[in-house]
Amino acid sequence: MTNLPINKLREKFPFLMQEDIKLSKYTACRVGGPADVLFTASSAVELAAIVSYLNKLKLDFFILGGGSNVLISDKGVRGIVILNRAKHIKFKVKTDPPTVWAESGSSLIHMARLSAERSLTGLEWAGGIPGTIGGAIYGNAGAHGGEISDILISTDVLLKNNKRVQWGAEELEFEYRGSKLQNMQRTVVLSASFKLAVGDIDTITQEMNDYLAVRRNTQPPGASMGSMFKNPPGDYAGRLIDASGLKGIRIGDVEVSPKHGNFFINYGNATGQDVSELIDFVKKNVLEKFGVSLELEVKMIGDW
Ligand code: EPU
Repeated sequence: MTNLPINKLREKFPFLMQEDIKLSKYTACRVGGPADVLFTASSAVELAAIVSYLNKLKLDFFILGGGSNVLISDKGVRGIVILNRAKHIKFKVKTDPPTVWAESGSSLIHMARLSAERSLTGLEWAGGIPGTIGGAIYGNAGAHGGEISDILISTDVLLKNNKRVQWGAEELEFEYRGSKLQNMQRTVVLSASFKLAVGDIDTITQEMNDYLAVRRNTQPPGASMGSMFKNPPGDYAGRLIDASGLKGIRIGDVEVSPKHGNFFINYGNATGQDVSELIDFVKKNVLEKFGVSLELEVKMIGDW
């Protein structure tokens, strides 16, 4: 049973709210039980309206973007989830530097491709990274030597006291796969702007395609959460898992990918419980073999 003021919420947002909605279809690994309440925000304005109302009522919420870096429990979320579908993207190509502004639910891959089409360089590394701009900022997404923090100009953030702040990279305290946002409650990135540079369209496209090819060669297709663990200092989670002989280990319908040890693949009917058990198994074995305690990159959400 939920303690949420359901009637109040329904009255305030009759068209944006659904109840008891299974979250598996909104996650990249296709795992996750129901949320008591699911809001869908189709613009940054809607997102701000929902969040500021929830903040007023002091109600916690979880923002689900692309669903690529989360593991939601089978029991689901006894509370509120907001599906961020605010996807507007605007370029300023004639300014120096050229910039792109995006609502936080925009796809990072989409923004990278639109930039390439406009001969704008700076996002080649992002052409294959699933997830939203908000998620990318929250976890300082990166690949192939690039990170979202490198190109960020500013974010429009709504804090839990409902103040709006414009935070740059310094205020966000970026680190490897992390930002200050990960320690903040009831706070949401509404939109962000990024600096790019004018480049040569063929070079940009080539570089992006090369990174995609590397990805295809080293990372498995299929339903997964992306990298499960952060790379420990001076080493690689994938290498450690591989060298521990754990590739191909399977619990229920989830398997440590034989292609890349830091990817877990859902072959169709994996449960959150299966994934969580595989996480523990892998962590235990890598710790025993190498004395390294792997830290999850994926966030575990809901009741465990
Ligand atoms: N390796 C193995 N066995 C494996 C997998 C990897 O020995 O099964 C070795 C590789 O040979 C290589 C090293 O481990 O020497 C690193 O592997 P890889 O080059 O595949 O990169 P990664 O560190 O595993 C990181 C990011 C990825 C990103 C790639 C490409 C992390 C945790 N992961 O992977 O990001 O796509 O680099 O730049 O930082 C993500 O964060 O979700 C993600 C996919």
